[in-house]
Amino acid sequence: MFQPLSVIPGFDLWPGLLDLPAQRALVDAVMAAAKTAPFARYDTAYGKAMSVAMTAFGPLGWTSDKAGYRYAQRHPGTDQAWPDMPQALLDLWTQLGDPQTPPDSCLVNLYRGDARMGLHQDRDEADPAFPVLSISLGDTAVFRIGGTSRKDPTRSLKLASGDVCRLSGPARLAFHGVDRILAGSSGLVPDGGRINLTLRRARPA
Ligand code: SIN
Ligand code: FE2
Repeated sequence: MFQPLSVIPGFDLWPGLLDLPAQRALVDAVMAAAKTAPFARYDTAYGKAMSVAMTAFGPLGWTSDKAGYRYAQRHPGTDQAWPDMPQALLDLWTQLGDPQTPPDSCLVNLYRGDARMGLHQDRDEADPAFPVLSISLGDTAVFRIGGTSRKDPTRSLKLASGDVCRLSGPARLAFHGVDRILAGSSGLVPDGGRINLTLRRARPA
């Protein structure tokens, strides 16, 4: 494992950590999972559908509707358990997430067209001592990250296919979002766009 770039304290980036075969294998796993756990655009708590379509791997999946945000054991559309987490994701978490406690959720985000994600904190997990590990696949994202207050200054950086980044420690609760996707910058995702995977430990250890 090579040394990551420390973008801000607690936010580390490993550019191009996953090679093309590893990226392809993950996209294939996502597309297979979406056959039984279809991508859906959830409503925010404010009642507006998100532009990003989502599904999940693992015992828990993050979902949202007018009642709020939460981790659920079942896909809200099919009422079935989420597909199993691919071994490659478990292995990556052992290396860069936590060596003892496995992740119990992987959020799968699909950005097509002008999908974006507003600035937010990841704070639906029980214990922020566990990091969030993010994997980018397909088209490059213009990603934005700031501090733990919404008013803190932000900076933007590009996340390309195969890049892995980690929010931990002082950046674990940093505000972050995706301003836009550079359409056509990669041909990896069938029908275009970007897939982002975020590995999390949602329940206490
Ligand atoms: C997220 O914050 O859930 C997604 C971040 C990303 O798409 O890079
Ligand atoms: Fe997030």
